[in-house]
Amino acid sequence: MRKVTIIGAGNVGATIAYTLAVEGVANEIVIIDIKTEKAEGEAIDIAQGGLFFREDVKITSGDYADAADSDIVVITSGMARKPGMTRLDLAQTNINILCSIAPQITKYAPDAVYVIVSNPVDVMTYVFHKVTNIPENRIIGSGNTLDTARLRYWLSNNFQISQQNVHAYVFGEHGDSSFVPWSQASICTTNVDEYQEYLNPGNPIDHAAVEEYVRKSGGEIIKRKGATFYAVACAAVDICKIIFSGIETALAVSTMMHGEYGVDDVCLSVLSIVDENGIKGKIPAKLTKEEEEKLQHSAKCLRNVIDQITYQ
Ligand SMILES: NC(=O)c1ccc[n+]([C@@H]2O[C@H](COP(=O)([O-])OP(=O)(O)OC[C@H]3O[C@@H](n4cnc5c(N)ncnc54)[C@H](O)[C@@H]3O)[C@@H](O)[C@H]2O)c1
Repeated sequence: MRKVTIIGAGNVGATIAYTLAVEGVANEIVIIDIKTEKAEGEAIDIAQGGLFFREDVKITSGDYADAADSDIVVITSGMARKPGMTRLDLAQTNINILCSIAPQITKYAPDAVYVIVSNPVDVMTYVFHKVTNIPENRIIGSGNTLDTARLRYWLSNNFQISQQNVHAYVFGEHGDSSFVPWSQASICTTNVDEYQEYLNPGNPIDHAAVEEYVRKSGGEIIKRKGATFYAVACAAVDICKIIFSGIETALAVSTMMHGEYGVDDVCLSVLSIVDENGIKGKIPAKLTKEEEEKLQHSAKCLRNVIDQITYQ
């Protein structure tokens, strides 16, 4: 069985459930929400598309006990960011929700890999480490997987080249202090800045503008349609796909730091290898001094939030 429980049947949770089912990533899906009718409605709506799925998928809504034997639990519960609200404004409300959920879900699914998507995702991932006994490798924050997809989308459009040929990541907080380690960004084997100079001499990529594009994308979409959920659902489903396939894959996910790049006791995104057990380890990217300082600044921003919230 490939069983996934999704907590939170809102835009993000329901889209993850739908995508998992349509793509045949999971063959059993349980949706849990404090609004039980909403969870039930989403489960029935998706299940009734079953005729058109690649394989049979059992989709139900339920309670925490129904999460027993889950391989993966995806946490999307909480409030979504409203227009004008920063991700960090959300912190305490969503932390309180996470703390109420954590003991219930870990009681029934103690062996699952946990994928945290709710915002502010780095702080939520950190708190989940602190309030549960789930081993560290089995806690993954979706972190900057979405931001990385947005960056690659921009770069592939800029160079008119397949996203498969773009190797670039967004590091740090999933939020205002995120940044791109441009020294590590390449088109196949060529650094993106050199590639740009080759294609468009004397017209360098405006790094700050691209990072701004990545950071503001969520807000721009929220301004237009009130929420973002398709791309983040694809990113969360990709993590599930990697876990089920066991094919070790590098992702910019949010993980607990232990002194790497001079950053300790905070969760943020750097390159990690994900495998069937969750986080296998981190890839020691050769950042420049300036990039390391940016990561340390991002860690400070997150530490500042962690120091202001309460959790138990
Ligand atoms: N990490 C990312 O890249 C990323 C991107 C987009 C959205 N998000 C985050 O994902 C989260 C969900 O967004 P959304 O648009 O689906 O929001 P939403 O409001 O549509 O759905 C949230 C759901 O959580 C449920 N919920 C609240 N408290 C609960 C509890 N105690 N137990 C179970 N369920 C509970 C609500 O009833 C609601 O159905 C938000 O925190 C949002 O900021 C993260």
